[in-house]
Amino acid sequence: MVSYKELGLVNTKEMFAKAVKGGYAIPAFNFNTMEQMQAIVQAAVETKSPVIMQVSKGARNYANATILRYMAQGAVEYAKELGCPNPQIVLHLDHGDTFELCKDCIDMGFSSVMIDGSSLPYEENIALAKKVVDYAHQYDVTVEAELGVLAGVEDEVSSAVSHYTKPEEVIDFSQRTGCDSLAISIGTSHGAYKFTPAQCTRDPKTGKLVPPPLAFDILHEIEKKLPGFPIVLHGSSSVPQDEVDTINKFGGKLPDAVGIPEEQLREASKSAVCKINIDSDSRLAMTAAIRKYLAENPSHFDPRQYLKPARENMKKMYIHKIVNVLGSNDKL
Ligand code: G3H
Ligand code: 13P
Ligand code: ZN
Repeated sequence: MVSYKELGLVNTKEMFAKAVKGGYAIPAFNFNTMEQMQAIVQAAVETKSPVIMQVSKGARNYANATILRYMAQGAVEYAKELGCPNPQIVLHLDHGDTFELCKDCIDMGFSSVMIDGSSLPYEENIALAKKVVDYAHQYDVTVEAELGVLAGVEDEVSSAVSHYTKPEEVIDFSQRTGCDSLAISIGTSHGAYKFTPAQCTRDPKTGKLVPPPLAFDILHEIEKKLPGFPIVLHGSSSVPQDEVDTINKFGGKLPDAVGIPEEQLREASKSAVCKINIDSDSRLAMTAAIRKYLAENPSHFDPRQYLKPARENMKKMYIHKIVNVLGSNDKL
């Protein structure tokens, strides 16, 4: 058993309380590779932002669970080396789907876990979340649970249809589970295709899709029921159209990729939404830079040559999110 405290990591408790009070949100960036980790830490240090580094089950399968855990420990030391003496970095399990997976992460030094029982019947979701909370809280590890189902077809946690969170359930759910934060469904979804063209209108000038707005009425109802309680938004990539255009220009094929407009995420950040999950935008930033580099330098084959601009492009994106969308800069 390794405590996250020994690794210099923090849980989400104080971070979320400050974010809800201060009207900003903490970035929760997924990472699978060293370059993503480096870009996240560099961005957080340069902007003096707290940050959640999250690992999905898919990331553990891809990179190896132990390696990712040591990378997060390395992230703390790297932040110090970059001039941040007291970084606030959370190592979070994203979309844990069993008690055993959550326990394994807690036992190996994660400071926060998500138990995602959102696809289960209500009572089963509560029972599973409570079991994880009871274990996690013994070690001061914070727990995110989810109520409501996000649509999404691109990752391991996909569902074909979304079901908005029912505000009338949130008090009972949070009290009976004892969770520290609640992920809700108000129209976001995972991946780079968050809406079908039929759900959108089209900008007559650019031909780009304009998505429907998030269900802010549901968010506000939830806030009224749970004043000051930390709310989490998954599926919050904005799918930057310049990155999509670069990918398409250099051989990619992402027609009609569309995300959540940043103004809406900015608005949500000012509310009880205090954690915003972003993964796809990092994937797009990395892929756009690599495709462009390789197309322009067909004779190069050293991965460092194309991973360097990829890392720079991700860092630029992370800084933009922190400063211009979530407002978590200068909050250390
Ligand atoms: O919410 C899901 C995250 O984007 C992680 O995706 O399961 O493909 O690693 P993944
Ligand atoms: P995106 O696919 O919108 O980046 O969502 C990521 C996420 O919710 C991770 O849990
Ligand atoms: Zn998610």
